[in-house]
Parts: sequence; structure tokens; C-alpha cells
Amino acid sequence: MAGTMNNPEGGELRIGIAGLGTVGVGVLRLLSDNAAELAARAPKGLRVTAVSARDANRDRGVDLSPFAFEPDAATLARREDVDVLIEVIGGTTGAGADAVIEALRAGKVVVTANKALVAERGAELARLIEQHGGALYYEAAVAGGIPAIKGLREGLAGNRIVSVAGILNGTCNFILTKMKDEKRAFDDVLAQAQALGYAEADPSFDVDGVDAAHKLAILSAVAFGGVPDFSAIELEGIRGVRLEDIEMAEDFGFSLKLLGVAKPRAAGGGVRQYVAPVLVPQSNPIAGVYDSFNAVVVRGEPVDEIMMRGRGAGEGPTASAVVADLIDAARGINPPLFGTLNAAAATGGGAAQAEAAAGEAVEGAAERRFWRLLVDDRPGVIAEVSQVLSDRALSVEKIVQQDADGSRAHIFILTHAAQRTQADEVAAALARLNCMIEPPAVYAVEAL
Ligand SMILES: NC(=O)c1ccc[n+]([C@@H]2O[C@H](COP(=O)([O-])OP(=O)(O)OC[C@H]3O[C@@H](n4cnc5c(N)ncnc54)[C@H](OP(=O)(O)O)[C@@H]3O)[C@@H](O)[C@H]2O)c1
Repeated sequence: MAGTMNNPEGGELRIGIAGLGTVGVGVLRLLSDNAAELAARAPKGLRVTAVSARDANRDRGVDLSPFAFEPDAATLARREDVDVLIEVIGGTTGAGADAVIEALRAGKVVVTANKALVAERGAELARLIEQHGGALYYEAAVAGGIPAIKGLREGLAGNRIVSVAGILNGTCNFILTKMKDEKRAFDDVLAQAQALGYAEADPSFDVDGVDAAHKLAILSAVAFGGVPDFSAIELEGIRGVRLEDIEMAEDFGFSLKLLGVAKPRAAGGGVRQYVAPVLVPQSNPIAGVYDSFNAVVVRGEPVDEIMMRGRGAGEGPTASAVVADLIDAARGINPPLFGTLNAAAATGGGAAQAEAAAGEAVEGAAERRFWRLLVDDRPGVIAEVSQVLSDRALSVEKIVQQDADGSRAHIFILTHAAQRTQADEVAAALARLNCMIEPPAVYAVEAL
């Protein structure tokens, strides 16, 4: 077991924590608050020996006096009295990434919450483990407190995975929930989320879907094999979502959610991975996941559908996932990095996902779509719009016109399943109509 590499007697695990922010302090608190439970679950002991952060003197509300302080995280990773590095600094480069690489080069065990690093440099980390015999645990990198990696990689190991999807960003789910409940515009709710500390001062990682895409890349690798392939993800965030889209989607029987979805392509091979605002039927349990909650839905053969819902971020939930990984390490549980065979096979398996990227031209499954058009409010407009759709054989399931502001109207349309190329042609033709005030907004209906 890789976890005993620097600890050959299989005795207590000596832990170094790189990063003493929200997650790092949460881990220290959890180790202390639940010491009795943890002692029973990891009887040989978990002991923090050293910590690292930028500022050695800041009061973090926890007693750091029992631990050595290392200003440099990579030095912490190399310390003789550190068997396991907990990396909770973050970033694909810089101190956190350097510390992880140092620890893996030394054949040590790493527990990380750093989704960006695992999603974007997963192949490199897999090679280091292969070469040096260390181990990497990353439960906290995906959906915070939800044991999504463990559920998928171990609990569902007997299944052929059909799809994995999730509400993977709590900030976006919070914003969409507030827009719906309080009938407010996106910008207004975003400003409130920033004031409450839910959203960063620079919210682009969240609202543009990048954070969800990091988590999706990891989930997809675990579900379908290979290493995370972040660059293959089709990405769209929630900046373009309007209150009227959410409200009319509800009237049509759907909820509008930012989802990350990975599923094998209908044709052409590979896995399609996308993050986008989509409509989900209200009958699907993920439609009822609101506020800052996350959820991961896995469909597998023969298990059918599983949904895990919980808190996707925050001190306690994220620390819960980090400490679960520590206990796995202490127990000698070390599944293959991304679930299939070993790290070398996983690195080679990246071909499956590269194929997915190359297969971009290949059609995916046909999808129903929800359209919002803003048009001049004058007679004949519905007929013009309908003509464009019927000329391109896109059939309408439902169409509703609603006054926007006296001189302009919204037309909302639900169309039957069609390939993306057909929908793209319709969107381009609609945009050319004189009555159109802005290009149409189009959302896929994700059946899951
Ligand atoms: N927060 C969450 O809910 C959550 C959930 C899931 C995953 N994560 C991931 O967990 C990681 C940590 O997130 P966080 O929210 O805990 O971040 P955070 O509150 O910003 O804390 C980051 C910590 O890293 C330290 N740090 C920064 N640069 C450093 C350097 N050069 N050398 C040593 N230490 C350095 C900071 O030190 P100072 O305190 O001295 O400035 C700080 O203690 C990230 O990868 C994040 O994506 C977070």
C-alpha cells in the first residue's frame, strides 16, 4: 500500500498541512473535535506534525503551537516527519502545486482539495505516482462533502456508467435559486452573493463554469476511464440566464440548472463533457436541489439512477472529505488513481478522451431545446418565426408569446429533439429576421 511508503511499520500517519485557510483550519478543527471517533477508525493514529501558510503570525482561531511551521510548502512536503501532505492552498501552479509534486516525487501520500490541479495536471500526477510509488487522494476536490469519488470509484465499481451529471458549483446554484425565488436579475443576485462571501470578488471561475468544469473533468475520468481532460469540456456559464428564462422554464415543467454532464457520445466514440445552463424535468430529483447545495447523479447499468446531494463547499463539508481520505490512507485503502487499472494505464487511457475532443464534429444525441426570442411586438411575428422553424424541419412542442415592455415581446419555444447542427441553422436563420432584437437564447433539455 502506497500509504505506508514512508511509514513502513504502518504506525501513526504524520501529517503536514499546506494551507491554513478555510479548508486547512477546518481539517485541524475536525481532527480535534472528532478525535475520539477518528481514533477508533484509524487506531494507529493521525498526528499533525507541521503546517505551512504565508503568514506565520495570523490568529486563525486554532492552536498551532504543537506544530512546526514551514514558510515554504515544498519544504514541508519534504520533511522527514511528514508521511502525508494535505495540500489545501490551491492553484495549478505555485506553492500548492509545487508541494504536491515534491511529495509525490518523494513517494509520499498526498491528500488534496485542489480541483484545478487534479483536473488540469492529472496525467502528470499519475505519472509521478507510477514512477515513485506515492498516492493521491482527492475526494474534497469534487463536490465538497459529498463522497462522489468514493461512491463512483468504489460503490459503483460493478457498473457500466451511462452518465454522470451534477450541480457542481454552489455559487451558481445559489444565484439561480435566488433569481427564481426573489424574482431578481442575475447581476443583482451576484452582487448579493459577493457581499455574503458566497462568491469571490472575481466571480468568473464560478459563474463562467470553470470551477464546475474542473470537477466534471475529474468525475468523467473516474466514470469512463482515462485521466481528466479539462480542455475537452464544452463550457458555458450562467451570465446569460435571465429571470424570464427561469420562470418560463418552470411554467413548461422544467428547472433551469447549471449542470456538468459527461456521457458517451451517441456516435463516433469518446465521451462528451459539457458544463452549461440546461433545463431538467421537474420530475428528476436534481431539479429540487436548491440554494448552495451540490448534487451528483450517476446512471449506471445495472444500478439505474443514484443521486448524492449535500454541501459542496465550506469549512466543515470540505474537511469531512479530506479527513475521509486520510482515514483511507491510514487503513491502507488506495484504489487506482482514476479508478481504472493503474496510473500508467490511466495516462494511456487519456486517448479515450482525446478521441472525444477530436470527435467534436460527430453528432451527439438529439436534444429537445428551449428558446427565448426577443422580438418587435407586431402582428405576423409568430408566423415569421414559425416559418423559419418549419423550413428547417424543427418541430415545435410548445410556443408562448409574452409581452416584454409594450413595444417588444418574448417568444418562448420548446422544440422536439433535434441534432445540434439543425438547431444551429435555425438559430442563425432566426437571428437574420428583422423582427429579432437580439440573437436567440437556446438551452438544451437534459433528460439525464
Ligand atoms: N473553501 C472551500 O469551500 C473549498 C471547497 C472545496 C475545495 N477547495 C479547495 O481547497 C483549496 C484551499 O481552499 P481554501 O478555501 O481553504 O483557500 P483559502 O482560504 O484562500 O486558503 C489558502 C491558504 O493557502 C495559504 N497559501 C497561499 N499561498 C501560499 C504559499 N505560497 N505558501 C504557503 N501557503 C500559502 C494561505 O496562507 P495565508 O493564510 O497565510 O494567506 C491560506 O492559508 C483550494 O484548492 C480550493 O479550490 C475549497
